Amino acid sequence: MSINIKTPEEIEKMRIAGRLASEVLDYIAPFVKAGITTGELDKLCHDYMVNEQGCVPAPLNYAPSGYSPYPKSICTSINHQVCHGVPGEKALKNGDIVNLDITVIKDGFHGDTSRMFIVGDASIQAKRLCEVTFECMWIGINQIRPGGYLGDIGAAIQKYAEGKGYSVVREFCGHGIGRNFHEDPQVLHYGRPATGPRLEAGMIFTVEPMINAGKAAIRELPDGWTIVTKDRSLSAQWEHTVLVTETGFEVLTVSAGSRSQPALAA
Ligand code: MF3
Ligand code: CO
Ligand code: CO
Repeated sequence: MSINIKTPEEIEKMRIAGRLASEVLDYIAPFVKAGITTGELDKLCHDYMVNEQGCVPAPLNYAPSGYSPYPKSICTSINHQVCHGVPGEKALKNGDIVNLDITVIKDGFHGDTSRMFIVGDASIQAKRLCEVTFECMWIGINQIRPGGYLGDIGAAIQKYAEGKGYSVVREFCGHGIGRNFHEDPQVLHYGRPATGPRLEAGMIFTVEPMINAGKAAIRELPDGWTIVTKDRSLSAQWEHTVLVTETGFEVLTVSAGSRSQPALAA
């Protein structure tokens, strides 16, 4: 595993890409209402990225080995969908929870971020899952410091999530990011403290826990992309792109509409 250290110039470009990705979520937030289809959300985000931001939507035609090219510009994962939900004709309905995952390329660099949205009035259980998952992401991010271990992130997330009675998805993880969408290292959202590579200033990776209300097992739908929970329990995810700094961390996917970190994780 070789984790590349970004130069100051690359870091500045990653700050810009990160802000732009987060601004797509700010832009789309008011449209996330009962009745809109995920295909319409995709089209709105696509046009905003391309025409307003001068960005390339990284998911469109993205084809890691073993996968068919991803057909849309964003991921929309509803209720028991874990991640990589492919936008289509399905309309959002009252009580749904939906993750919108945005990755832009600006000036050759990627910014990757996702948030949960609650459509109308969701159940207490659905809202709690979204909140605990947000806390999981921040508890993981707060482990990040130079000299620390990559494994500290997943260990902290797993402990917190399982303590709340939830489970952590194993098959998908955070990732290094820069000129490539997915680079080393893999950032697991479970594991043991003081394991894995040591963190160094200039590393950039995502923290993006997928947390299930039921069991951890997942399966892939026949579309070759959409991942769902095997037991059809609800799943939630939040994602930030984060820089390791000399003193700790800097979240790169921030914009006017980003939520600040919860008090308990600070
Ligand atoms: N944005 C996702 C991530 O956080 C990856 C989506 S790949 C796609 O890593 F092709 F489905 F868009
Ligand atoms: Co990611
Ligand atoms: Co993402």
